[in-house]
Amino acid sequence: MIQLNNSPTGYGIVARSLHWLVAALIVYQFVLAQRADSATLFEKLGILATHKSVGLTVLALVVFRLLWRSYTTVPAPPPNETRLRSSLARISHSALYGLMIALPLSGWLMSSATNTPVSYFGWLTLPDVIAPSEAWANRLMLVHATLFWSLSALVAIHATAALYHHFVLHDNVLRRMLVSNGDTP
Ligand code: HEM
Ligand code: HEM
Repeated sequence: MIQLNNSPTGYGIVARSLHWLVAALIVYQFVLAQRADSATLFEKLGILATHKSVGLTVLALVVFRLLWRSYTTVPAPPPNETRLRSSLARISHSALYGLMIALPLSGWLMSSATNTPVSYFGWLTLPDVIAPSEAWANRLMLVHATLFWSLSALVAIHATAALYHHFVLHDNVLRRMLVSNGDTP
């Protein structure tokens, strides 16, 4: 039976789908930003319009994910977990959520500073949040890029920790985020 909610021992289908969907969208965002770098000006505008819309989708999904997380249970650490590891996991998960919120918000601020509209797939144009300013546009580009590289570094540590749990500690931490909710063998 498909379980929507998390349980004390594992993640339900909603948390698992959101985790992998958001991870894939973040990778796609990086690919789009790379393509924008080497595109002609005309192509760049189209690619960035998609980058902005997908980034806003990430923001909305992460807000929904946090609401869902507070509604459902958060699985407990596995029985073999030390206090140090479980604190590190808690801190890094909070930092990942923080970065996933701050990154799209910095993109929105940067777009306001460059005076380029943020349209959500052409359906809805978001208001500008700050006045146009070249100095702020440059600063915010640096902030946006720094947040992205911080997120990437943390994700590398996070993925390594997940693989360590699976291959060294032999617990169900990776499995419960991949396929089953951890209740079933
Ligand atoms: C999870 C969401 C996002 C990720 C992972 C992401 C990632 C990136 C990356 C890696 C770059 C390239 C930075 C560089 O060249 O050093 C970039 C550039 C940019 N991003 Fe985002 N971004 C996200 C969301 C957004 C949002 C929501 C907006 C606007 C509403 C936005 C607007 C921009 C703009 C305007 C650029 C500059 C592109 C250029 O001029 O070459 N981003 N982003
Ligand atoms: C952009 C990439 C990623 C981001 C932003 C991300 C973010 C997160 C966050 C915020 C959580 C906490 C979930 C919660 O309890 O609410 C989490 C859990 C988890 N992630 Fe990721 N993740 C990413 C990629 C990966 C990758 C590549 C792997 C595996 C190789 C992975 C494995 C896991 C596992 C196993 C958990 C569950 C941890 C536990 O049960 O305590 N993640 N991830």
